[in-house]
Amino acid sequence: MKNSFLGLVALSAISLALAGCTDKPAPAAKAPTGDAAAGKIIAAKDCKACHGLDGKGVAPAIPNLAAQREPYLYNSLKEYKDGKRSHAALKNMTANMSEADLRNVAAYFASLPPIANAAAGDVKHSSPYEKGKTLAAACAKCHGEDGNSTIPGTPSLAGQQPHYLVAAIQEYHQGDRAKDTMRSALRDADSADLESIALYFASQKPVKRAAPTRGDPAAGEPATAVCGGCHGANGASVDAATPSLAGQDAQYLEKAIKSYRTTRKNWGMQRYVAGLSDKDVENIAAYYASQTPRAADQVPTSTQELAAKCNLCHDQNAGPTMAAPKMRGQDKDYLVMALRAYRDGKRESSTMHTMSFPYSNAIIDSLASWYTSQPAQ
Ligand code: HEC
Ligand code: HEC
Ligand code: HEC
Ligand code: HEC
Repeated sequence: MKNSFLGLVALSAISLALAGCTDKPAPAAKAPTGDAAAGKIIAAKDCKACHGLDGKGVAPAIPNLAAQREPYLYNSLKEYKDGKRSHAALKNMTANMSEADLRNVAAYFASLPPIANAAAGDVKHSSPYEKGKTLAAACAKCHGEDGNSTIPGTPSLAGQQPHYLVAAIQEYHQGDRAKDTMRSALRDADSADLESIALYFASQKPVKRAAPTRGDPAAGEPATAVCGGCHGANGASVDAATPSLAGQDAQYLEKAIKSYRTTRKNWGMQRYVAGLSDKDVENIAAYYASQTPRAADQVPTSTQELAAKCNLCHDQNAGPTMAAPKMRGQDKDYLVMALRAYRDGKRESSTMHTMSFPYSNAIIDSLASWYTSQPAQ
């Protein structure tokens, strides 16, 4: 299957993952009781070059440690020491440190005041939804302002499944689907842009297209029995990678089905449409065009809305014994790196992995920017 998976948000998985939010994170193994003054000596010798004596990372991708929760700092140092986190320099350094050293240096950085966030003003952040909305203006002439087209032969994009949208846009982008107008409209978009556009259209309310001018919906229905397993009851898909067909433009559907006989390469689809006559295709298109469309699952439309879920564990008022780190004012590159690592299974934390696996790079970037732009706590 031609499935250019970009790690776009699996929408149904988001609500699932966020449901895990109400879980309380595990408290630190033992309440650390470090000696900050003894920790300062270690910090001055071994940590200052990268983390600063004031706990501010000296370069992008080095995390700030100032005012971070003490149990979290201790836990993460243990993880480097025990090889659960793989950073080479920290693994070597912590290998030679005693339990007491770890506690003391954690206590030192935790005792520092939060870094006044000079970078905050420089960090641009916008939600993928807002960004997608802006970019979608270039598509409005043909696909309609909110993704509901009224031009026969031009598909509506409103409510369409987001993984599928990204894959479809990519096919034009790479020239796999022949359509010159579409190709030029998309020439300059990068992959985060594509995800943002898809997210925006996916969350719009779809409107049923004009009644088909040919074909017999009633005759088409029985032939769609084999399609429902993938495209959903009446063509309203519930799978993020499979397009909805309900209420789509009939002329477009007809052409799309036929194109699997020739230019569009998808073995799953080709098998099901190969035996259909032109009359069958016309009837099937008429049937799906007459169905009531249903939008893809609800998407969080703002970064703040998403961050509110994260704050349940990560914010200051989440309680001093919790092992979840503070993130406001943290270095942006570091946050992006950490979130991708959880998502891609490269950093251990079952809670965070469940939280972050459905996130696309576009969403990770906007969440990281948002946290970085907030005053440190
Ligand atoms: C050579 C530069 C360097 C030095 C020296 C260094 N660190 Fe780090 N530190 C990093 C980088 C880079 C990361 C992010 C690593 C990763 O991807 O896991 C990090 C991560 C950490 C973290 C995890 C923070 C978090 O939010 O998860 C802690 C805690 C930490 N360092 C403490 C220390 C302590 C204590 C010392 C001194 C004993 C030290 N580091 C010395 C570069 C350094
Ligand atoms: C000049 C008119 C025009 C513009 C502008 C345009 N499109 Fe299209 N688009 C079309 C037509 C016509 C088709 C159907 C092409 C085909 O038959 O393959 C299409 C098809 C698509 C499809 C495939 C839908 C499906 O169900 O498989 C996607 C996705 C898409 N366009 C996205 C976009 C995006 C995103 C933009 C803006 C960046 C855009 N288009 C701009 C005319 C346009
Ligand atoms: C095994 C699962 C499966 C079955 C069964 C299936 N499809 Fe599909 N269909 C897909 C997938 C996946 C795609 C997206 C493929 C791509 O990216 O080109 C697709 C794409 C399509 C499209 C293009 C939609 C668009 O917006 O461009 C149409 C039309 C379509 N299918 C109609 C049908 C019909 C009619 C049947 C039954 C005769 C059917 N499909 C059976 C999985 C399936
Ligand atoms: C159920 C509680 C919980 C929720 C909700 C949660 N997290 Fe976490 N998060 C944790 C815990 C616990 C850790 C520490 C895991 C570890 O030791 O690696 C963590 C670690 C992180 C880190 C690593 C930070 C660092 O300094 O290394 C990032 C980044 C992060 N979370 C981002 C998020 C984002 C973004 C969200 C919301 C989409 C979120 N988290 C929601 C509990 C949670």
